[in-house]
Amino acid sequence: MLSRPSVLALGLAASVVAAGPCDIYASGNTPCIAAHSTTRALYSAYTGSLYQVKRGSDGATTIITPLSAGGVANAAAQDSFCAGTTCLITIIYDQSGRGNHLGQAPPGGFSGPDVNGYDNLASAFGAPVTLNGQKAYGVFMSPGSGYSNNAASGTATGDGAEGMYAVLDGTHYNDGCCFDYGNAEVSSHDTGNGHMEAIYFGTNTVWGRGAGNGPWVMADLENGLFSGSSASINSADPSISSRFVTAIVKGQPNQWAIRGANAASGSLSTYYSGARPSVSGYNPMSKEGAIILGIGGDNSNGAQGTFYEGVMTASYPSDATENAVQANIVAAKYAVASLTSGPALTVGSSVSLRVTTSCCTTRYLAHTGSTVNTQVVSSSSTTALKQQASWTVRAGLANSACFSFESKDTPGSFIRHADFALLLNANDGSKLFHEDATFCPQTGLNGQGNSIRSWSYPTRYFRHYSNVLYIGSNGGVHTFDAAASFNDDVSWVVSSGFA
Ligand code: AHR
Repeated sequence: MLSRPSVLALGLAASVVAAGPCDIYASGNTPCIAAHSTTRALYSAYTGSLYQVKRGSDGATTIITPLSAGGVANAAAQDSFCAGTTCLITIIYDQSGRGNHLGQAPPGGFSGPDVNGYDNLASAFGAPVTLNGQKAYGVFMSPGSGYSNNAASGTATGDGAEGMYAVLDGTHYNDGCCFDYGNAEVSSHDTGNGHMEAIYFGTNTVWGRGAGNGPWVMADLENGLFSGSSASINSADPSISSRFVTAIVKGQPNQWAIRGANAASGSLSTYYSGARPSVSGYNPMSKEGAIILGIGGDNSNGAQGTFYEGVMTASYPSDATENAVQANIVAAKYAVASLTSGPALTVGSSVSLRVTTSCCTTRYLAHTGSTVNTQVVSSSSTTALKQQASWTVRAGLANSACFSFESKDTPGSFIRHADFALLLNANDGSKLFHEDATFCPQTGLNGQGNSIRSWSYPTRYFRHYSNVLYIGSNGGVHTFDAAASFNDDVSWVVSSGFA
C-alpha cells in the first residue's frame, strides 16, 4: 500500500518528522513524479513500500518499509527474511504515488544475461550503509544488472522540463556504458539524439569527460555522455572523490545543468549550466519518459555503480530547492557499514577453507596451476599440497573492508574471478583485477563457517561445482549456479592454514 502526503498535510507531519526531499521539491513547486530509495522514505509522512526482495530458498518475496513515517528502511526485516539464503532486490517502489516502480529491465538494443534476456537483479546485501546510525541497504549494481519502467507516468516528454537527483557510491564505478538514473526511451532501444536525459556516473570517455581521471557526474542525452555544452572536456566538471555523492541533472527548453556534491557534507556546486549541445537532435530534446537505473537507454548494461536514493521531478527545480534537498541528504548522515559477518578473518594470517557439503568434507580450497579447485588435504599430505591449499589473508585489493586471498606457494598471485570461474592469477595492479580479487566473507549460508561473497558481484559466492571453483549465483543461468546444494557448496569452514 503506497501513501503519499498531500502538500496540505505536511504542516502536521513536518512538526513530527523533518521534511523529506520530495516535500522540499513540492514546496518549490517542482514535485517529485518518481521517488526511489531502498534506504529511506523520501516524504516525511511516507510509510509505504520502499522495495521488494525475493529470497533464493523458496522464491518468496517480502516488502521492506520504513521503520517509521519518513524514516529509514527496516533493514532488520530484510536480514530476518533473508537469513540463511540469498536475496535479490526485485522492485524499487515509487514513493510519489504515481506507480513509477522500477523492476528488472527487459532486453532492448542489448540483451541482459538473465533468462529471457532480462538484466540481472541486484543482491540485497551488496551495499550496506547506515543513515543516522541506522542500518539500511543500497542497490549495488554489477555489470549486467538493470532496472527500468518503460511505462512511467508524469515524466517529462519531448522538450519538457524536469529535474532529478541521485545519491550514489562515489567509489563504485567503471568505464562501461552506462550507469544512469533518469529519463530514457520507452522501447529500451536507441531512438536517436536527445531521446534521453539521465544522470550518468563513471569514467566512460567515449563521448564527453570532466577534469582529471574521473569518475564524473555527466548527463546521458543519448548517443552521448555530456559534461557540458559539447561532447568534449568540461574542466569545471570535477573528478569525484567522496564515498557518497549527490548527482543532479536538470533540463528545460534550451537550458540544462549538472550539479554535484559530497552527499555526506557540504553544499552543491554547479558543474555546468547553459545551452543545449549544438549537435543535431539535442535542441529541442525528444525525451520519451521511461525511467532507467544502472543501464543506458538501449539497455547497454556494462556499467557498475551503487544507488541509494533518487527522484525525478515535474518542472525545472531551482538551485535553491536543490540546495535544500542537499542539506536534507547531508542530515540523513550516510555512512559506511560492515560488509562482512560470521567468523572473523585476520589480515596476514594463513588459512585453509574446508568444504562443508556432505559429499566432500575432506576437501579444501586449493589450486592446480591457475585453476582453483578443491582437493583432499590432511596433516599427512605433501608440503606442496598443503601449500596449494593455504592462503594468506590480505586486505581486500579493491576495498579494505573485505579481503583478498594470496597464494601461499605463489606469492603475488591471488584468487580472482574471470568469466565467473575462480582463477589464481598474478596481481597486475589493475582496477579490474583488484575488484575481481576482493571478497567479503559472511556467515555461512548453511550455518557453518563463512560464505565468501564477491565484492563486485555480490549475488555470487565461492562455490565448488564438480570440485572446481566458480562464483556461483543461487539459481542463475550457468550450470555452476544450480540451486541444488547451493547453500552447502558456498559454505566453508575457515581454519589455520596447512602451511
Ligand atoms: O548516450 C550514451 C549511450 O549510447 C546510451 O545510454 C545508449 O542508449 C547508447 O548506446
